[in-house]
Amino acid sequence: MTSCENHPQPFSCAVLTMSDKGSRGERLDESGAMLQDLLQGEGYHLQAYKMVPDQIEAITSALVQWVDEERIDLIVTTGGTGVSPSDVTPEAMRLILDREIPGMGEAMRAASLLKTPHAILSRAMAGIRKRSLIINLPGSTRAARENIEVLLPALPHALDKIQGGTSDCAKS
Ligand code: MTE
Repeated sequence: MTSCENHPQPFSCAVLTMSDKGSRGERLDESGAMLQDLLQGEGYHLQAYKMVPDQIEAITSALVQWVDEERIDLIVTTGGTGVSPSDVTPEAMRLILDREIPGMGEAMRAASLLKTPHAILSRAMAGIRKRSLIINLPGSTRAARENIEVLLPALPHALDKIQGGTSDCAKS
């Protein structure tokens, strides 16, 4: 169970997949399915899943509803972080985040660069809205897995701190 001292229940999570083809039913959402399995295996409680087209309005409205209405602790997105004209995930994030956590994107790109030079093409961001943490991942299943694995060890402490936890940073 992924929880902490100040939050005895498992943290809730949601997965949002950005895919024009997927949202038209033309492609299976393998990365979204992988992330749901992975997060549940890590002890998070899966509260929601959705696939939306690569459109700013569709992305922001899903994220705002999950944070403001459903108060989901951790939201992971996959897809739309790259440099194609249709990739708008970071633009949507900038509209709804209260605070950015640049180190998360930097760490994912640094670790990924050891695997592929294309890692620098991901503009993935992470940040906080209210008491929720939102993390972008690239769209391919392999890339999504390689990127989330970089962050997993820091997530329980990050979620604790975002929700006002006062635990000693050196101990967690
Ligand atoms: N990071 C890792 N670890 N492994 C990968 O295979 N693919 C890259 C990059 N990050 C990749 C990766 C590629 S090819 C692209 S285009 C960008 O992520 C953006 O992906 P997206 O547009 O699907 O979000």
